[in-house]
Amino acid sequence: MKFFSQSALVVVAAMFGAAQANWGYAFLDGTPGITTESCGTVCPWTEYKVALPTPLANPAKCCSTVTIAYNGLNLEGTYTDICTSCPTVNHGVDGNITLSAALYDQLQADTPFVTWNVVN
Ligand SMILES: *[C@@H]1O[C@H](CO)[C@@H](O)[C@H](O)[C@H]1NC(C)=O
Repeated sequence: MKFFSQSALVVVAAMFGAAQANWGYAFLDGTPGITTESCGTVCPWTEYKVALPTPLANPAKCCSTVTIAYNGLNLEGTYTDICTSCPTVNHGVDGNITLSAALYDQLQADTPFVTWNVVN
């Protein structure tokens, strides 16, 4: 699975009109070693929470919708938190994220390699 084509993921992102796709592993929020903190605003309550990597944590984007694509699934969550233990690679484009259980469980995979994008 680690060799899953990134170009295939780009096609998926393009189909959904993503301006910029980011790749990373998705962790379940609360996984040991993964730390998060609020993105700075108290967002409207949701059980579909996403924590983005610190270098991509633009406070102006706090509470924005985040799309997550994996294995034919396309989910939406809300950027509510910063993943302070998720440094980015590839010049700040790619990065690991964390998902609340309501999102993570839908992926039905152990730390899946997903495409994610901040919508607005
Ligand atoms: C992202 O998660 C993967 C899988 O655990 C890990 O190997 C990698 O080092 C992480 N990358 C970053 C930039 O944290």
